[in-house]
Amino acid sequence: MTDEVDSVRLLGRKLDVTVNTEKLPENLFVDLDRKAMPYALRNLLRNAFKYAATRISVDAEQVGETIRIHVDDDGIGIPPEEREHIFSAFTRLDRSRDRSTGGYGLGLAIARRVLELHGGTATADASPLGGARFTLTWKGRQ
Ligand SMILES: Nc1ncnc2c1ncn2[C@@H]1O[C@H](COP(=O)(O)OP(=O)(O)O)[C@@H](O)[C@H]1O
Ligand SMILES: [Mg+2]
Repeated sequence: MTDEVDSVRLLGRKLDVTVNTEKLPENLFVDLDRKAMPYALRNLLRNAFKYAATRISVDAEQVGETIRIHVDDDGIGIPPEEREHIFSAFTRLDRSRDRSTGGYGLGLAIARRVLELHGGTATADASPLGGARFTLTWKGRQ
């Protein structure tokens, strides 16, 4: 699949969503739990849709035996000092947006646990789009 751009209208915003899998080789077979891994990715996407201003980008790549998926948005982002803490269960940052959007602060804790079960990691960073970047990394090839 090459760059796919879709426009989604959600809560009065028009969001451009890009999914880029062109860095993955064709006919790629990846080790993953078919229920848990999509669940982890869905949690990141749900957050991205919540916080993005206009753009979301999903990029997948293979580096050696490692599979890496970035979920980027152009929203308010996450302060550097909170980027580890937000993966703790029941942690929600105290910003206007967070309080109005429900949730129990479990999505990222679950995502990280799922990646740990795959021998991998889930991390947060600054996005080149200006908001938050979440990255799932695991050894998907033997
Ligand atoms: N894409 C994002 N942009 C900005 N902040 C985020 C993003 N994703 C998560 N967060 C922050 O991390 C907190 C924890 O996220 P999560 O574990 O998914 O719980 P919940 O979505 O239930 O609040 C959120 O409440 C929010 O403060
Ligand atoms: Mg969430």
